[in-house]
Amino acid sequence: MKNFNDIRILLKDDLEKTDLLLANRLSSNVALINQMSSYIIGAGGKRLRPLLVLLCARATDYQGEHHRLMAVVIELIHTATLLHDDIVDESATRRGQDTANEVWGNAASVLVGDFLYSRSFEMMVEPGSMRIMQILSKATNSIAEGEVLQLLNCQNSELTEDQYYQVIERKTAVLFQAATQIGGILSEADDIQEQALKKYGLHLGNAFQIIDDVLDYESDFESMGKEVGDDLAEGKTTLPMIFALANTTGADNTLLKDAINNADNSKITQVIKILQSVDAFGYTREQAQKSAELAKDALVDIPSSAYKDALILLCSLSLQRKS
Ligand code: IPE
Ligand code: IPE
Ligand code: MG
Ligand code: MG
Repeated sequence: MKNFNDIRILLKDDLEKTDLLLANRLSSNVALINQMSSYIIGAGGKRLRPLLVLLCARATDYQGEHHRLMAVVIELIHTATLLHDDIVDESATRRGQDTANEVWGNAASVLVGDFLYSRSFEMMVEPGSMRIMQILSKATNSIAEGEVLQLLNCQNSELTEDQYYQVIERKTAVLFQAATQIGGILSEADDIQEQALKKYGLHLGNAFQIIDDVLDYESDFESMGKEVGDDLAEGKTTLPMIFALANTTGADNTLLKDAINNADNSKITQVIKILQSVDAFGYTREQAQKSAELAKDALVDIPSSAYKDALILLCSLSLQRKS
C-alpha cells in the first residue's frame, strides 16, 4: 500500500456502498434541496472522514452493518460545514466547481447546510447508541465554536499559536476524532483501543488542517479544487503567518501586519515571498509532521492488519497531499 488509491481499493466494497447510501439518504420532497445537495456531494471530495470510520471499524474487527451509516453521517456533517464555511469565507469555488453560495446564493446555502445537519441527526439515532449520539452532537457543536472563534480571531495579527490550535482542533480535528472513535465504539473495542483511535483522529485532524493552511498559500485551484489565498483575504492568521509575524522585523513585518489587520490580499505575492524568506512553510510543515507522528504513535495498541497499515499510511499522506 503506497497511496490513497490503494487504501480505497482495500475498502472498495464498503466505499461503493457508502456512496450509494449517501446519495439515497439525501432525498427530499423539496426539489431545490435535492438539486443543491447532489451538486455538492456529487462533486466528490476525498471522502476522507467516511474512510476513517470504515478503516477504524475494520481495524477493530467490526462485523456489523452500521459503519457505512456512520460514515455517511460524518460526511453529511462535514458537507454541511463546508456549505456554511464557504459563505463565511466568501469562497467562490469548492471541489473543482463554483460553490453553492456562488450558484444559489447565501440564503439557500445556509438552509441546505441546515438540512444536511438535520438529516445527519435523523440518521445518527439509528444504531441506538447513546454514546455515538453524544460524540456526534458534541463534535457538531465544537465545529460551530471553532468557526465562531475563528471569525472573532480574524484581522488579528497578535494571534498566538495556542489560539490557532484552539480553532483548528475545534473546527476540524474534533470531527476526525469522532470518526475514528466511532469506528471503535461500533466494534465494541476495549477502552484502550477506543482511546487509541480517538487520539489518532485528533492528531491526524490537526495535521490535516495545518497542511490545508500551508496549501492555502502554496497550492493552486487546479490541485485543490478551491481557490487559494482565501485565508489572507479573510484576514485569517494561520500558522505560517503567525510564525512569519514573529520572525520578521521592519518593513516586512509591517507589510504582514497590514495585510492581516486589513484583510487585504492585494500584496499576496510579496506576502508569500516574506513567508518563504523566513521558512514559515517549512516550520509549519514540521508542526504538521509532529501531529502526524503523534497520530501514528497512538496506534500502538491497535492490532496489526491491512486496515491499521492504511491508518498509518494516512499519516504520511496527509503531509504529502496536494489536494
Ligand atoms: C476541507 O476538507 C475542509 C478542511 C477541514 C480543510 P477536505 O479537504 O476533506 O474536503 P473534501 O471533502 O475533500 O472536499
Ligand atoms: C476548514 O477550514 C473548514 C471547516 C472545518 C468547516 P477552511 O476554511 O480552511 O477550509 P477550506 O480551506 O475552506 O476548505
Ligand atoms: Mg474556508
Ligand atoms: Mg483552508
